[in-house]
Amino acid sequence: MREVVLATEQEFSKGEDVFRSASHGDVRPAPAEEYLLSVAVITQNSRAVIVGAAPYRGPLYEALGKTGRPSGAIIARFGVGHDGINKPLARQNNIMVTNTPGVLDQSVAEHTIWLMGNLARQLSSSEGRLRSGQFTGQTGIEVCGKTLGLIGFGAIARRVAAIAHFGLGMRVLAAGRRSLSEMEEQEGLSLAQIQARFGVDHYTHEAESVLRQADIVSLHLPANDQTRHFINAQRLALMRPGSILINTARGSLLDESALHDALVAGRLAGAALDVFENEPYAPVSPEKDLRTLQNVVLTPHVGSNTRESNWRMAHACLENISKFFEGRFAELSRVDDGT
Ligand code: 8YV
Repeated sequence: MREVVLATEQEFSKGEDVFRSASHGDVRPAPAEEYLLSVAVITQNSRAVIVGAAPYRGPLYEALGKTGRPSGAIIARFGVGHDGINKPLARQNNIMVTNTPGVLDQSVAEHTIWLMGNLARQLSSSEGRLRSGQFTGQTGIEVCGKTLGLIGFGAIARRVAAIAHFGLGMRVLAAGRRSLSEMEEQEGLSLAQIQARFGVDHYTHEAESVLRQADIVSLHLPANDQTRHFINAQRLALMRPGSILINTARGSLLDESALHDALVAGRLAGAALDVFENEPYAPVSPEKDLRTLQNVVLTPHVGSNTRESNWRMAHACLENISKFFEGRFAELSRVDDGT
């Protein structure tokens, strides 16, 4: 009898072709809302769920704690970021948590580039005017020769750097949490090798230095207590006048109220966001609705949402779940800080 695996509806839809042919479990769609998902876990006696980026705070862990007895349960993230999962609560309920690293980097990196291009040439606002009968364009900028500042230097940022540097002729500065010497030592690469491999002209662990120099800033940090509102009013004020900001990482990295102020004041030329403090999008305060601003491009958390990335994420979820069922815990891409 195959074990029941519940996949939240959006994720089931994204990976349906893969899930329907799964051999290691009977994958079924389930509500993403936490209470309804927890009820489905109990009523269908499932100890394996596939979830998206939404936060899960309580009932799901309690339900999986029950259905997982005695051998445990698994939450398989359909994606990389796991800030929505309460890892201590998962551990308390003998639940392992996995994600799908390395399979969506290209898609998110490409979306970052498309958002940058949209802002550079005012594509969305130009199309909006044309659709409303105004055949008038706005003068844009070339990105070739401009400085792109990456805040965070993980896998996605490195893909963005390579496209921007080698493909678009941009100067790329990267700021990561490690010092240059730590990164060289830990990755076994010299700065020259890092530059040649990833197209980075300069690397530093001082984000402020990058903010001060960049024409375009793109955020690529993980979401956690240390990075919440990393881009706040003070750091926005460091950015060059007329620069633009892109966020395809997590909404919590950016103080949207401070961003609204900087855009309205004209200190920034524009911003492009695929992730938000509130998802689905709702303004952090009624008078600071980003949707009312012309120099803002907004997309609904679709950075990884491509056929190719969804196929890879679905397969990676099933690999984690099948390994879990087989007890091959050391082979899981775990993010629950468990042993
Ligand atoms: C979502 C993401 O997981 O990978 C991440 O961290 O935020 C996204 O890929 C995906 O959209 C869920 O369907």
